[in-house]
Amino acid sequence: MSIRAENLGWKVGSKTILEEVCLTAKPGEMLGLLGPNGSGKTSLLRLLAGLKRPHAGQITLDGQDISRVRRRTIAQRVAFIEQHATTNAHLKVVDVVKLGRFPHRSMFSGWTTEDDAAVNYALDRTELTAKRNDAWQSLSGGEKQRAHLARALAQSPKELILDEPTNHLDVHHQISLLRLVSDLRITSIIALHDLNHAAMFCDRLLVLQAGKVVASGTPDDVLTRELLNDVFSVDAHVSPSPYDGKPHIHFVR
Ligand SMILES: Nc1ncnc2c1ncn2[C@@H]1O[C@H](COP(=O)(O)OP(=O)(O)O)[C@@H](O)[C@H]1O
Ligand SMILES: [Mg+2]
Repeated sequence: MSIRAENLGWKVGSKTILEEVCLTAKPGEMLGLLGPNGSGKTSLLRLLAGLKRPHAGQITLDGQDISRVRRRTIAQRVAFIEQHATTNAHLKVVDVVKLGRFPHRSMFSGWTTEDDAAVNYALDRTELTAKRNDAWQSLSGGEKQRAHLARALAQSPKELILDEPTNHLDVHHQISLLRLVSDLRITSIIALHDLNHAAMFCDRLLVLQAGKVVASGTPDDVLTRELLNDVFSVDAHVSPSPYDGKPHIHFVR
């Protein structure tokens, strides 16, 4: 139940987007992916989810090279919540969540009790059971993002990949979504912009700059004043939070 990437490279035309990227997400771990806009986070997550093929390097799931695995088989274990996830507005919430079962269903089998159990579990974990029959359009932004997570959970994933899932959420919903992902203890790789949230919730962090890994390790190792200056061009003080001891970043105006 781990994802590993070795020396990944990806190009668009002659433009190099990712170069020699290595990462490991260990079983049950939450790995935060940080980096400025355009540093390659979304490109990397799409490679890891098997939606694009790298031009160099290798991605393995529990040691198995994903270039040798069908996309449907990958989707049976890796769930991906895209940065701009779109949904058919005319569906009910439960129907959106049911889409997560798609990789597990064959052409011949009907809807099973196992499918029902996975959907009910996903609605329950994301606190959407009471809204299951509501129209998608009626959900708030935070509820929609929770429903995208529910769809991913209905996939019964061993690995979860999330691309800036807290964008556009208020701070309460940001924290409750991150807490939920953290509590699931599913191997997860999550692109985040909020560095303090990354420090609070992620076990380890990986920082991209212009398509290359420039730092990786625990939040303590990674979130230094020098790195924030070099990579994000901000002046900041970093000190341990009195609440959890994790590094807390105070930005200087
Ligand atoms: N399909 C594509 N065609 C051309 N350029 C792309 C494509 N996908 C990504 N890029 C470029 O790759 C770089 C990294 O983009 P992206 O992975 O979206 O970064 P991030 O998610 O960190 O903001 C950007 O310069 C972006 O313009
Ligand atoms: Mg992105």
